[in-house]
Amino acid sequence: MNKDFNQNDITHTEDIISDLKEYLTKYTFEQIYILTDKNCKNLCFPVISKVFNRNEKIFTIISEEKYKNIETVTKIWNFLIKKQADRNSLLINIGGGMVTDIGGFAASTFKRGISFINIPTTLLAQIDASVGGKTGINFQGLKNQIGTITLPEKVFISSIFLKTLDTEEFLSGFGEMLKHALIFDKSHYYELINFINTDFSEKKYQKFNTLIKKSVNIKLHFVKNDITETGLRKTLNFGHTFGHAIESYFLKKRKIMRHGTAVVYGIICELWLSVKYHNFNKNYIEEISKDLINIYGKVNIPEKDFSNIYLLMKHDKKNTGKNIQTVLLKDIGLAEYHNIINKNDIFESLRKLNLLSKEIK
Ligand code: GLY
Repeated sequence: MNKDFNQNDITHTEDIISDLKEYLTKYTFEQIYILTDKNCKNLCFPVISKVFNRNEKIFTIISEEKYKNIETVTKIWNFLIKKQADRNSLLINIGGGMVTDIGGFAASTFKRGISFINIPTTLLAQIDASVGGKTGINFQGLKNQIGTITLPEKVFISSIFLKTLDTEEFLSGFGEMLKHALIFDKSHYYELINFINTDFSEKKYQKFNTLIKKSVNIKLHFVKNDITETGLRKTLNFGHTFGHAIESYFLKKRKIMRHGTAVVYGIICELWLSVKYHNFNKNYIEEISKDLINIYGKVNIPEKDFSNIYLLMKHDKKNTGKNIQTVLLKDIGLAEYHNIINKNDIFESLRKLNLLSKEIK
């Protein structure tokens, strides 16, 4: 880890040009390098390009999951070497979670670590991936198997980029925001539902800034005293035991389900287990499941495939030993991170998820 966690490392800004300019003037890095992806280079980079003086060297990658691998990292390292980056250089990652994850990893390992900053441009990256220091790549078909925990020097979060997102991408990030609310702040959960039901269609992103800030602060609460995830940080995995497995299951079927959307279905499954293990209020689960299915749509996973989901869960890197571990809720806003669940639990919750999808009109 490069430095201590500090809330000031995150700047929420509506004037990213001034804030970024000020930051880069204050800290004199020898050389500045930019990592971005093709889409962002066209849509997001122009928003901030006037901050730079054209001496910066830009490297563009394709931000698809299949390229989140060591070959792409090698290309980034080669680029840095070719352009004579040294230990006083700065890498600026501009893009979604793939760019901030892989850029953070490349920077944290290059010459034993150079500084990097994140400018996340998707909602998912703004409220989750770019914050908290997890960097990484996929390996042997498994997500984020290789990585470091290295904090960026700075993260700039601006809703100006959200205008470029399509609804599905927005909702994927929103799923992680719902998760943050459910594990920590009941009233924030209702604020989010209210936003999506009223302001979202009108794209009132200005109002959304306070919600993003709250969401990031919830993440920071869980990360700040447990950066290496030995305890409390695990709470952020709520919805992910099922969510990761559901995401991988659909990927194997060549159907893309976005990460935050899969997490939402994971949340529904894990809420049912919260009723079983922590007496979570049944009225809430019906209400929340309805809210979520109304926003994210129905899902059906054939019963014959439940064992595939179970096997995927057994390989989850969050497990220790042979047990499948998950996060469950005692109440909205009150989570318990150490729970062991079994095969029956998993089948039962997947059945409930299917049933709910059928029942809701
Ligand atoms: N995405 C969960 C974490 O950063 O711990």
